[in-house]
Amino acid sequence: MTEPPSYEVRRARGREELDAALALRHDVFCVEQGVPEHEERDGRDREGLHLVAVAGGEVLATCRLLFVGPTVQFSRLAVRRADRRRGIATALLREADIEARAGGARRLVLHAQTYARQLYETAGYEPRGRTFMEAGIEHIAMEKVLP
Ligand SMILES: CC(C)(COP(=O)(O)OP(=O)(O)OC[C@H]1O[C@@H](n2cnc3c(N)ncnc32)[C@H](O)[C@@H]1OP(=O)(O)O)[C@@H](O)C(=O)NCCC(=O)NCCS
Repeated sequence: MTEPPSYEVRRARGREELDAALALRHDVFCVEQGVPEHEERDGRDREGLHLVAVAGGEVLATCRLLFVGPTVQFSRLAVRRADRRRGIATALLREADIEARAGGARRLVLHAQTYARQLYETAGYEPRGRTFMEAGIEHIAMEKVLP
């Protein structure tokens, strides 16, 4: 029997949770993956919808949704190292679908790091075009049309 998740997935609440999500992104993308800070903080966080996975008052994972017409640009998916491979990213992707639909979007697009492509394919995304380099990391564009 699968145990229910011990974390909650929802929108970030208040300045403190948003700051924790941004700090996690910094640790994961800038420190762990070497992405330059000015690329990680691209100036679009104010307009973004930020989702988090939270347990015991701590932010375990986050991602960002930007609504552009009927499209959601999904990005900045980061899970704390110690909490990976527990299905948390998958749960955030599921919540992103719910938010996208509720916000009137019809599709989601993202740039996947190619090593994580399976994560997105399992969540219903399809690759579009060839791989390319972004922030020094190989990516592929992916898209999901909401059913
Ligand atoms: C990529 C990342 C978000 C995945 O988060 P996660 O919570 O561990 O993902 P899930 O547990 O939901 O994984 C679901 C499936 O995705 C795939 N997957 C996840 N991490 C993977 C990895 N490191 N390598 C290959 N496949 C991976 C697997 O198919 C996995 O299923 P499995 O565990 O049954 O094999 C996380 O490793 C992370 O934060 N990495 C650093 C930041 C990053 O690369 N972000 C993504 C940018 S596109």
